[in-house]
This record gives sequence, structure tokens and C-alpha cells, in this order.
Amino acid sequence: MKARDWDRLAAAYENEVCDIFVRDRKKVIAQWLRARGLLRGQKTLLDIGCGIGSFIKQYGRHFGQKIGTDHSRRMLQIAARRCHKLADCTWLQTDVIDLPKILHARGDLVVCSNVITFVSATACARAMKEVTRCARPGGALLFILPALESHDAVVALETGRKPPLRGATAIVRRDDRKQRFYTAAGARQLATRAGLRSITVRKAWYPWIDEGITRAPRGHELPWDWLVTAQR
Ligand SMILES: C[S@@+](CC[C@H](N)C(=O)[O-])C[C@H]1O[C@@H](n2cnc3c(N)ncnc32)[C@H](O)[C@@H]1O
Repeated sequence: MKARDWDRLAAAYENEVCDIFVRDRKKVIAQWLRARGLLRGQKTLLDIGCGIGSFIKQYGRHFGQKIGTDHSRRMLQIAARRCHKLADCTWLQTDVIDLPKILHARGDLVVCSNVITFVSATACARAMKEVTRCARPGGALLFILPALESHDAVVALETGRKPPLRGATAIVRRDDRKQRFYTAAGARQLATRAGLRSITVRKAWYPWIDEGITRAPRGHELPWDWLVTAQR
């Protein structure tokens, strides 16, 4: 999807999308941020592909300087509006595969949530390299990736069909959006190939309703995204 496609989606995005930073049912993201000491000391935060500023809106008050980047101008305008009460926010229009030098080694925490999953498979390694270099050496990175196992479990529940055999990733079409989903092994491989250290891959569960399922099915695990954390 191109920047202008995201511009078109931006207005509807606020209502339409499952915001994992708010919907994180078991608070695994907050727990990790706290345990890692990232919510203390007014650290510098970079959110690459920030969209409408969901992470900065949810956690920005704990950070000092906050920089949100996105290739969609419209997304950035909405992010700026939603986060207008927060001090020290900068919004930068730029592509994830070519981030400006001023961002290099800047972040105590670099967030990249559901972004590289929209970048083509060939550009993905480059995007990961660009995101990684925005963290200061020893700095932390947080990625959110859509989970293929969770998607397959939801489809199996809805259709009664057994999930297909999968590789590390697969392209999934939802509404009119195509996105690369990752298995746990695929998520780990992505971070490993980017040269990251101390990689962890955990589930960040969200409510059934975000999958359009109104009644929680008994005996089934909540749907989830992968929370991938690492150190540069
Ligand atoms: C699914 S949204 C996620 C937004 C936000 N990170 C979140 O988790 O709420 C994907 C965002 O990535 C941005 N994006 C997609 N491809 C991009 C690229 N090549 N460069 C910069 N931003 C990109 C889109 O404009 C959109 O705002």
C-alpha cells in the first residue's frame, strides 16, 4: 500500500482499527515497558510508522522527547491532533525504508507496530535495518506483528476448517488490505536477521470483538498479536 492509500484510510482509522496499545487485554505491553525501566526518566521515544499516534497517546506522558514518523501526511495530522496535550512531540513524514540520519541512534525506545508487515518482502530487510539503527546502541525496540497462528485459529473457529500448513510468514487479506502475518518462529527470525539481541516473542492478547466475534467461544484462547522486543 502506498502513502496515498493510507491517507485515504486515515480518517476512518480512528474508529475502525483494533488499537493493540489500548486493547492489550493482559497488559503485557505495559508490563514489559515497566520491567525494562522505559517508563521512568523521560527517555526518548521514536515511533516509526506511528499512524494516528496510538502508542504515543497511550504511553507518551512517561517519555521525554517523542518523535512519530509515517509516510502518510494525513495519519501524522491526526496523530498530532490526538496527542496535542503532550509536550515535546515531533511528527515527521518519511518512508520506513529510508529514514533520515537525524533519527539514527536516537531512541532509548524505538516502536514499530504493524508497519513492516505492509512493506514488500524484498524491502522488509532494509526496513528492519533502518528501524534498528534508530535505537541508540543498547537501546530497546518493540515490534508488533500480526500472528499467523492466531489468524488461523480464528478462521478455523469460524469455518470449522483445519488450518493449512504454514511457513514462517503468509500474506493475509483482510477487508481490502493485504498484510504479511508471522508465526512465532518467523517473528523471531525477522529480529535475528536484523542483528538484534535479547529477542523475546510473546503474545499480546486482544478481545474477540476485534475479530468480529461477539460471544467469547468457550475453551479458546483470545486472539493475539506478537509482541517482539529486543535490544540493539
Ligand atoms: C496498521 S497502521 C499502524 C499504525 C501504528 N503503528 C499502530 O500500531 O497503531 C500502519 C501504518 O504504517 C504506515 N506505513 C505503511 N508503510 C509505510 C512505509 N513504507 N513507510 C512509512 N510508514 C508506512 C501507514 O501509513 C500506517 O500509518
